[in-house]
Amino acid sequence: MSAPNKQYDPVEVTPLHPDEVARMRDEALTAVAGAQDLDQLKQVRLAHVGDRSPLALANREIGALPPQARKDAGQRVGAARREVSEAIEERQQILEVERDERVLVEESVDVTLPWDRSPRGARHPLTTIQERVGDVFTAMGWEIAEGPEVEAEWLNFDALNIGPDHPARTMQDTFFVESEDSGLVMRTHTSPVQARTMLSRKPPIYVVCPGRTFRTDELDATHTPVFSQVEGLAIDEGITMGHLKGTLDHFASAMFGDGITTRLRPSYFPFTEPSAEMDLQCFVCRGASVGNPDRPCRTCGSEGWIEWGGCGVVNPRVLIACGVDPDRYTGFAFGMGLERTLMFRHGIEDMHDMVEGDVRFAAAFGMEI
Ligand code: DAH
Repeated sequence: MSAPNKQYDPVEVTPLHPDEVARMRDEALTAVAGAQDLDQLKQVRLAHVGDRSPLALANREIGALPPQARKDAGQRVGAARREVSEAIEERQQILEVERDERVLVEESVDVTLPWDRSPRGARHPLTTIQERVGDVFTAMGWEIAEGPEVEAEWLNFDALNIGPDHPARTMQDTFFVESEDSGLVMRTHTSPVQARTMLSRKPPIYVVCPGRTFRTDELDATHTPVFSQVEGLAIDEGITMGHLKGTLDHFASAMFGDGITTRLRPSYFPFTEPSAEMDLQCFVCRGASVGNPDRPCRTCGSEGWIEWGGCGVVNPRVLIACGVDPDRYTGFAFGMGLERTLMFRHGIEDMHDMVEGDVRFAAAFGMEI
């Protein structure tokens, strides 16, 4: 057996040849210098220092050399790889600076431009007036009650002493749900909330209920099939018509100005006895236009009073239907239309403005919260 070959053994491993290593290095350096952005540089890094790059593959060949030749080749390949890596790092820094400069220019924000051009909405005056009514009454210790818009026919009519033959029940006024005998209607007034409240809690009861109501009216300057009312109900021991009048006067002055009062005229509602139409003292002329042609008033038509709603002492038949002892308790109730209230409060002449949803109409009322 011959002795180990201690001499340099010129095994030819082409990729490790100095010229070849230099060529691979130069090729990598050219690619690095040619990378125009960070994405391209990433590709160059993969191609020239990645696991499958020519220099990495050459590195793996070192083991195939005789021991004496390995050190040389290792240094050569190592130096080439270092040089390429350093070039990449340098190029990376340059490209990052370039990118940051470009982003600063391209994504710059002109802080002097108007910052918000989206049109702003506005709360509808019907919403704000409902809240205002609620505030007036909760300030007196009353509560807000609610009921569904699709209502049981019994609560909308029968419980309120509106018999089956009452004209309000015919198809002309009422939206029936599904079929006329479904037992469900779109509530024609907020009064069923009176019945719901009496059925669900014990007196004393002091509630107001603002809400949406429905009748089969055509939309015109003074009518709309979907409108709003506010209902009031007080049930307690010893309640009289005097309490009703005092409450309405307070309500009137809270909504329309200090000292504005109400006037009651005899009327008829099935659910109150006695019943009254309630007029509001004209809050513009306060009556000064009456019989005074020199000072006509557009708000009340020089009448001095404006029709506002209905009211009365709760009919004992309603108390009985709703489980309240009429020998112990009495109560008063009132109800008024909110569109109408808004119309004379703000001089709105056409119902269309109120229902059409043009934001310019609502915006004119400002941001009353
Ligand atoms: N519900 C009546 C309507 O829609 C308004 C009304 C009148 C309500 C008298 C009441 C009342 O509570 O006592 O026309």
